[in-house]
Amino acid sequence: MIDTWAQYVFLFCGVAFILALKGLSGPKTARNGNLVGAAAAVIACALPFFYVSNMKHVPLIIVAIVIGTIGGVIGAKRVQMTQMPQMVALFNGVGGGAAALVALLELHQIGDGANISWFNLAATAFTIVVGSVSFAGSVVTFAKLQELMTSRPVVFPGLPIAFGGSFIAVIVLSVVLVHSPGMLVGIVLALLGLAIGLLLVLPVGGADVPIVISLLNAFTGLTVAAGGYVLANTVLLVAGTLVGASGTFLTLLMAGAMGRSVANILFGALKGGSTLGAGEASDRPVKSVGPEDAAIMLAYAEKVIIVPGYGLAVAQAQHTLRELVDVLVARGTEVDYAIHPVAGRMPGHMNVLLAEAQVPYEQLIEMDEINDDFKSTDVVLVVGANDVVNPAARTTPSAPIYGMPILNADAAKQVIFMKRSMRPGFAGIENELLFEPTTSLLFGDAKDTLGKLLTAVKAL
Ligand code: TAP
Repeated sequence: MIDTWAQYVFLFCGVAFILALKGLSGPKTARNGNLVGAAAAVIACALPFFYVSNMKHVPLIIVAIVIGTIGGVIGAKRVQMTQMPQMVALFNGVGGGAAALVALLELHQIGDGANISWFNLAATAFTIVVGSVSFAGSVVTFAKLQELMTSRPVVFPGLPIAFGGSFIAVIVLSVVLVHSPGMLVGIVLALLGLAIGLLLVLPVGGADVPIVISLLNAFTGLTVAAGGYVLANTVLLVAGTLVGASGTFLTLLMAGAMGRSVANILFGALKGGSTLGAGEASDRPVKSVGPEDAAIMLAYAEKVIIVPGYGLAVAQAQHTLRELVDVLVARGTEVDYAIHPVAGRMPGHMNVLLAEAQVPYEQLIEMDEINDDFKSTDVVLVVGANDVVNPAARTTPSAPIYGMPILNADAAKQVIFMKRSMRPGFAGIENELLFEPTTSLLFGDAKDTLGKLLTAVKAL
């Protein structure tokens, strides 16, 4: 049993996690929210050293904590913002795997389970299976995003049967575990969970992977919550439920913003409906301009909308972009940034990126609010975005992004489209907007080209 005073401290940590989430929901309070959550996590991890009498293997536990802390700090310091989704995947997978291992150990201690309720045993089976799914799935998502393997959907004949078979076996073995608990059943359940994790994520294409990461994150949360129930640990229960609930909402919001259902994202490739992933560069002719001509178009426009996307983050060109906008605003041009909910590779990616460059929050306008303004806009400057302005989402039912709401950049009088090549966006499909007579391509790395644009606009 955990001492009452320690239970209170755990409860305090649980409340701190809720306050941390509240803080994270706004840009002004996010930093403090993060600190509150991190401090509560440190307290919760340190607490067992004070209330557990006769704690075993203390040196080993400390070595594990030191290794984990060093790995976490170095990983978090070194990671580029564009690599954040894979880092979240990796940390999330480790969390799921740890919860599954703890449940297996708990099973070992339960023995024949004579004094354990069926509900506790069911929660143990759930933790083992879902934790293993989350671990294996997260490793595959990491490998896809880190380009250690193809980001295209991987399907093979018999995959649905293997998936369905593993799923049924998991249900049957979970019932067996509840009736007669044993390590062997637990280990087979863990192996089946790993297989389901692999089979679940392999068919998902590149651009959908961030959504699956969020889903697996929700799975890990539920696993940790179930683990908290089994171990009678309040803080695990609260933290797991928070992660489970927020991961579920985030998954649904992202899927909604892409105009797809979660089932379509997970199983679309099996039906041949999703081919998201890298695509071929187009060789169709386009109209291109140099920075000087683009500068004239921008400098003499009354109204300009900037559409930022993944390429802006890759080029780390947000500071140069803000300088360019400042110069245009100083010349009397009305400039707004149009923020698509899934631009970039993670929720809020563009907001965070532009906030880093001190772009005033009022200049960032959400898609629904700005979409009607494009038709009265002189110039749209697309900086490293592609799928979020691809009209195929409206016109081509066979396109993987069909149904995704997009920014109406094609309604503007002129579009300057900044990218390095004729390669497609992350969905791997051609963008008709590139070939419109109103579109001019400005080729080059976004940071480099924005620098030239800035110099040219200043010289006018
Ligand atoms: P993308 O469609 O991926 O297009 C990025 C563009 O940036 C490409 O056209 C690329 O063309 C260009 N680019 C890359 N590096 C560049 C550089 N250094 N300088 C200039 N241009 C560069 O990006 P998007 O429009 O932001 O769309 C996001 C995609 O991710 C969507 O498919 C969305 O569904 C998916 N997704 C997002 C999320 C979240 S939450 N954000 C979640 C799941 C999926 P070049 O290679 O020719 O330069």
